[in-house]
Amino acid sequence: MAVDNHKKHIIEVDIDDIHEGMVLANEISDGNGVKFIGDGVKISKLIVKKLKDNPPSQNILIYKKSIHPQKIPSIIAKNAQRLKIEMKNLCTATYPDSDFKKLEASVDAAANMLKNKIFNADSAKLINIKSLNQITDLIQGSSQRDGQVIKYIMKIRKKDDSLYKHSINVSLLSCMLGKWLGYRGDSLKILTRSAMLHDLGKVKVDESILHKPGKLSSDEFSIIKKHPEIGYKMLKEINYMSDDVRLGVLLHHEKEDGSGYPLGIKGAQIHHYAKIIAIADIFDALTADRIYHSGLSPLRVLEIFERESFGKLDVKCTMEFIRHISDFYEGCSVSLSNGLQGRIIKMHTNDISKPLILAENKFMDLRTRSDISVMDVFPD
Ligand SMILES: [Fe+2]
Repeated sequence: MAVDNHKKHIIEVDIDDIHEGMVLANEISDGNGVKFIGDGVKISKLIVKKLKDNPPSQNILIYKKSIHPQKIPSIIAKNAQRLKIEMKNLCTATYPDSDFKKLEASVDAAANMLKNKIFNADSAKLINIKSLNQITDLIQGSSQRDGQVIKYIMKIRKKDDSLYKHSINVSLLSCMLGKWLGYRGDSLKILTRSAMLHDLGKVKVDESILHKPGKLSSDEFSIIKKHPEIGYKMLKEINYMSDDVRLGVLLHHEKEDGSGYPLGIKGAQIHHYAKIIAIADIFDALTADRIYHSGLSPLRVLEIFERESFGKLDVKCTMEFIRHISDFYEGCSVSLSNGLQGRIIKMHTNDISKPLILAENKFMDLRTRSDISVMDVFPD
């Protein structure tokens, strides 16, 4: 998270664009490799002269905040050619990279443990705290790499995604959202655990209903709708499990307007863990839908998520979630409906599927181009 955010606030500038007052974001060395300006140094008139008289061999990086906002587009445009090459490389890059492989391995390990030690335990009483802690640690460790997790959720989805994988995804997303909302320490751990167990009750639902292709009958749907209550009762048998974990499980299908289940409670009555888990749960389902059925762009998924959430999900949590997820898209390569490839320069949080794009050295604000849409996003 820290590294990704750090990168987002840095911009490369051409030597001709260096001005007094900008703040350097890298060390600059002279021709002999001797450092003569450090990261964080505010550029003075003298430094500007030195740099222009003797241009350094390495790229000059500047903290974005120190550049006048009006200057940013022209700086970006100047670097358009280089960006284009970068984009091309990104679009042909093969996923996953090594960090991504580590994340995948952790998620696989967590899903296997969840399956064997927790969901398939002969009795809830046999679920041991050691296994729960191991899985929670794996998830919390993985969720540190927010950018990788988002890439994982958005890009790599297999058709055989199981209840266990879904549970781990929801747990990863809940843990990240919890962090963005300021949860730390034990409260973050308990939230992660509750999210991991949110669909535990589904182990008691007949598989033929659970995996039925096509529409469920109303009887079948009412059986599925029992899973939060079943999970809650199973967790009641475990005396070391906190009420917060149980309530997150019981209430994750409740809605802000009272239209959810099993209790039909509203707003402030819904436990805050359940509100977070609900967002993660729906987002994971929508993303899976995109891959399996509808072929929607990730930005369209966010747009639907935002719209569907109105009155149903907690507004503050949803906005925080969308804001962070869209942040990660800035700088990503995209393919457009007109066949061009480009890069997202700025997301508009009030019009999520229509960002400002740089393509073929030109800026295109998709809010004013109803004829062009983003087809796919390639996370860095
Ligand atoms: Fe559920």
